[in-house]
Amino acid sequence: MDFKISIPRVVESFLEKPSVSVLIKGKPGTGKTILALSLLAMIRKQNSFYLTTRVNAQSLKLAYPLVMEKIQSNQIIDASRKIFTLQAGETPPQFIGYSDKPTFIKQLYQKMLEEEDSLIILDSLEGIQSLLGENIYYELFELQRETGSRLVFVSEYEERKELDYMVDGLILLRRVGSDDNFLRELQIIKLRGTCLKLNTYPFTLFGGVFRHFEPFQLPTISEKKAFQPLPDTESHFSTGSKDLDEVLGGGYRKGSTVLLEVGKNISREAYFQIVVPTALNFLSRGKWVMVVPSLGTSRENVLSALSNFIQEEGLNRITIVEKKWGLEKLYKSTQNLLEEFYYQFEEIFRKIEPESHFASFGLDSLLVEFEGNLAEVLEAILYGVQKKRLLALFIIKYGANGIDKVANMVDYHLKIEERGGVIIFNSLKPKSTPHIVEVDYAQGYPQLELTPIV
Ligand SMILES: Nc1ncnc2c1ncn2[C@@H]1O[C@H](COP(=O)(O)OP(=O)(O)OP(=O)(O)O)[C@@H](O)[C@H]1O
Ligand SMILES: [Mg+2]
Repeated sequence: MDFKISIPRVVESFLEKPSVSVLIKGKPGTGKTILALSLLAMIRKQNSFYLTTRVNAQSLKLAYPLVMEKIQSNQIIDASRKIFTLQAGETPPQFIGYSDKPTFIKQLYQKMLEEEDSLIILDSLEGIQSLLGENIYYELFELQRETGSRLVFVSEYEERKELDYMVDGLILLRRVGSDDNFLRELQIIKLRGTCLKLNTYPFTLFGGVFRHFEPFQLPTISEKKAFQPLPDTESHFSTGSKDLDEVLGGGYRKGSTVLLEVGKNISREAYFQIVVPTALNFLSRGKWVMVVPSLGTSRENVLSALSNFIQEEGLNRITIVEKKWGLEKLYKSTQNLLEEFYYQFEEIFRKIEPESHFASFGLDSLLVEFEGNLAEVLEAILYGVQKKRLLALFIIKYGANGIDKVANMVDYHLKIEERGGVIIFNSLKPKSTPHIVEVDYAQGYPQLELTPIV
C-alpha cells in the first residue's frame, strides 16, 4: 500500500503567501493533527514548525509514525511540558515553556525572528488557552504582524467564534455519514483573495497520513500495453485488480453472481472501471467475455474499453449481445440478438466450458426485453453460472426498480456512488468499508485502485 500524503493544492499555495493565518477546525478525531503534520511534511522545511500542546514530541512519533518520518525533530516545538527533561535516547526537540504568558510569548517571538517567513502551526488553540488564558491569539497576531510569519491554528470546536473572522483562511474537517459508511471531508470555508473552483474535498487518514482526492478523472495513456493478468485460485477468479481482490477476500468465487449498483451522476467511463479489469483478466488468460450492454452503451463503447489492452486474437473471444430496436434488418444477420440469446439459453450454457466465461449484463436491457419474465431469466442465468462455475455481473443504474430483489439473489453486491466528483466504492455483500476509486495507467493498461476511507 502506498501512503501518499496529499493536500489540496489551493491550501498549500495559500500557505506559501507571506503573513497569512489559517484556522483548521474540527471535532475530536476528524484528522486535524494529521492534517497539520502532513502540511508540515509537505511545506518548505527549514522555517516551519509544529507547536504541540496536548501531546509531547515523543508520543507524536508513536501516534503518527509515517508522517513523523518526514518531519525533522527540530521542527517540533514541544510546549506540552512545564519542565523539560530529556528522556533516554530522545533527541532534543525545540522546547517552549508555558509557565507564564510573557515567557511563552517571548520564546515564540524569538523563534519567529530566527527564521524568515516562518510558519508556525499551533495544535491546539484550546491547549494554549487552557494554559495561558483566553484570547492569547490577540498577542499571537501581534507577533505575526511584527515578524511577517505565517500562523496556522488548530481548534477543537466547530462553532463559529471571533477567531473565524480574524483569520485569512478557514478550513473545516468533518466526518459525514453513518458509522459504517462514512466519508471524511475537508471544507474550505474561506481563503481570502483566492478563487475557489472546489470547496469540498473527500480525504482519508489511511495509514495516519492526510490524503485528499480530486474529482475522478481517467488519466491519459501515452502508450497502451497489454493487460497483465492476475492469477485465479482454485476457488476464485481474480477481479483483475489487486485492491478489489483484497476487498472481496480473494476475488469473485467461481460460479458466483455480482450486482453492481451504479449511483447518480456516475459516467460510463467511471463504472466501467469496476468491470473492465475483470473482463481483461479473463481475456488475457484465454477465457471468454460475454456482454449485454446497458441501455445507452453501444458495442463500440464496450470494444474500445477492451481492445487496446488485449492481443488481436482475444477480440474473437468477446461476444456482444444486443437488442437492435427493430433495426435488425440494417445489420448483418450474424449479429447476436438478445431474443435469440434467450431462446438459446440452454444451448449456450450446455456448450460453455466450465470456468471459461465472464458475462456482464446491463439489467435495464434485460428488463426492457423480458419485462415480466425477468426473474425467470435471472434464475436461468444464475443456474447456468453456478453449474458451469462461471462469473456473471449485473449492472443496475440509479433509480431502477427491483434492486433489492436482485440484491437478494446475487452473491456479491457492490455499489459505486459519486461525492463531490469523487467515486466511492462500497461492497454491501460482503460488507466492506467505503473506498475511493482511482485508475492508474502507469503500466499502460488500467489498474483499478481502491483506497479505504478511515
Ligand atoms: N495509522 C492510522 N491508520 C488509520 N487511521 C488512523 C491512523 N492513525 C490515525 N488514524 C485516524 O485518525 C484519527 C485521529 O486523527 P487526528 O489525531 O489527526 O484527529 P484530531 O482531529 O487531531 O483529534 P483530536 O481533536 O482528538 O486532537 C483517528 O480517529 C483514526 O481514525
Ligand atoms: Mg489532534
